Amino acid sequence: MSSLRPFISAEEIALQNRNLADKITDFYRDRVSQEHPLVLLVILKGSVMFFSDLVRLLEIPVRVEFISISSYGHDMESSGQVRFELDVRDSITSKHVLIVEDIIDTGRSLDAVLRQLRARGPASLEIATLLSKPDRRVVNVPVRFIGFTIPDKFVVGYGMDYAEMYRELDYIGVLTLEK
Ligand code: IMP
Ligand code: MG
Repeated sequence: MSSLRPFISAEEIALQNRNLADKITDFYRDRVSQEHPLVLLVILKGSVMFFSDLVRLLEIPVRVEFISISSYGHDMESSGQVRFELDVRDSITSKHVLIVEDIIDTGRSLDAVLRQLRARGPASLEIATLLSKPDRRVVNVPVRFIGFTIPDKFVVGYGMDYAEMYRELDYIGVLTLEK
């Protein structure tokens, strides 16, 4: 048995996306151009809804890349070892790169991703995450853009899943598993 409780509404998400998009646009306005667009590096699958709403609000030239990582761990926790199941098509060397992530929990997955991407020599590498659970952080990752800072709860919806379920919700809910 499990219970799902509404946590962040579709309206609150939309408002915060607007704020984030304005901050991202301000930050990159003088750094990128048509010739040197910002590379949005979207981490599949959880970030897809966040990305698709955010990208439409940005007022700077962008290119889009999707990556997929598999982490070895339990259903509700990651291990910190990641493997790129899908990698970028074009090189990110000398490009301004913004990673788009759904949620940062322990920080292990992103830390591993950051280390691999840094080695490729991007012009800059920043992170935008919709959600952050700082109480759960094990590895410190430098996050420039955060939508919502939340307590230690397991959330689903708006792209995020539990065992591949609930991604389709237009809001974010807290999932509690009962035995
Ligand atoms: P981390 O490596 O512990 O930071 O885990 C990050 C990844 O674990 C996220 O990108 C999600 O895919 C997943 N994750 C962590 N917390 C949650 C949650 O509350 N709901 C759904 N997925 C989560
Ligand atoms: Mg994720």
